[in-house]
Amino acid sequence: IKVGIIFGGKSAEHEVSLQSAKNIVDAIDKTKYEVVLIGIDKQGKWHINDQTSYLINEENPKLIQLNKSNENVAIIPGETDHQLIHASKETSMDQLDVIFPIVHGTLGEDGSIQGMLRIANLPFVGTSVLGSAVCMDKDIAKRLLKEASINVAKGLSFTRAKKDTINFDEAKQQLGVPMFIKPANQGSSVGVSKVSSKDEFDGAIQEAFQFDHKIIIEENIFGREIECAVLGNENPKASVPGEILPQTEFYSYESKYIDESGAKLAIPADLTDEEVEKIKAAAVHVFQTLECEGLARVDFFLKENGEIYVNEVNTLPGFTRISMYPKLWEISGITYPELINQLIELAIE
Ligand code: DAL
Ligand code: MG
Repeated sequence: IKVGIIFGGKSAEHEVSLQSAKNIVDAIDKTKYEVVLIGIDKQGKWHINDQTSYLINEENPKLIQLNKSNENVAIIPGETDHQLIHASKETSMDQLDVIFPIVHGTLGEDGSIQGMLRIANLPFVGTSVLGSAVCMDKDIAKRLLKEASINVAKGLSFTRAKKDTINFDEAKQQLGVPMFIKPANQGSSVGVSKVSSKDEFDGAIQEAFQFDHKIIIEENIFGREIECAVLGNENPKASVPGEILPQTEFYSYESKYIDESGAKLAIPADLTDEEVEKIKAAAVHVFQTLECEGLARVDFFLKENGEIYVNEVNTLPGFTRISMYPKLWEISGITYPELINQLIELAIE
């Protein structure tokens, strides 16, 4: 079976994707699958197989440093289109049996690649166009979860056009402090700030708008950060939950990938059987509500009074060394190679 692994991409999570792809390539059962590497560089150019090795074999730890430039999310349609056609000719993409897209964030996890693959009639791992787009947009995802009576943090959303109407005092009155400011479409906490004062607020709004045309402002939920992995199509199953124990203000990009002492992971999370069952059931409910397929990691807050809140859903969660998704399955009895095997089988079933 010929598996095309698409990785990299123009989003701010480019470096995270390189690490995820590297782990998937290392773990995939090579007696069963022939891997074709399809790398997208930061400019949006596509590279096939040997040419991609410079993207994926890079061991330089600086690789994971966040490049906070708007260029990361800029779209140059002409050039990208041309490169895509070029890449598809070179690989004969129609000879691939299945694609494992492991591009996080914009133009990867947001339905874009999924739409392209559907048009190309290529089966792929993970959620299709609608679910991907919905989960990528935290504002839209929360509206749908609320409608399904699933708890989410109270919040406000603003597009860039409405930027002048954002007011600290009003936000504070509605949401309290501290509050979180986030780009609506981003991952890995890129562009996210936790703020309490007007000065911090103004800076955080500027920062968030660097990464998206829409931002959200959310109340802070005081609770434990619990994550649960989901796997499957029509009858998805949930893993044992894990817990993030941030050692800094919050689970930021830096504490995830740069200074890893910034957060500890508890796998499995120290929970009662009843809490575990409640979280697993909620994760499956969220997965189905947002029309996810194949895989997703659902991130929760667990309040002291036992209430659970959904923070967000990741349809192409990280597969890096520190990432929860594969670790949660490992502890739930599915090894890394077997997990990849099941994901590919779910894509072509
Ligand atoms: N967005 C990152 C890759 C994650 O959720 O793990
Ligand atoms: Mg995310």
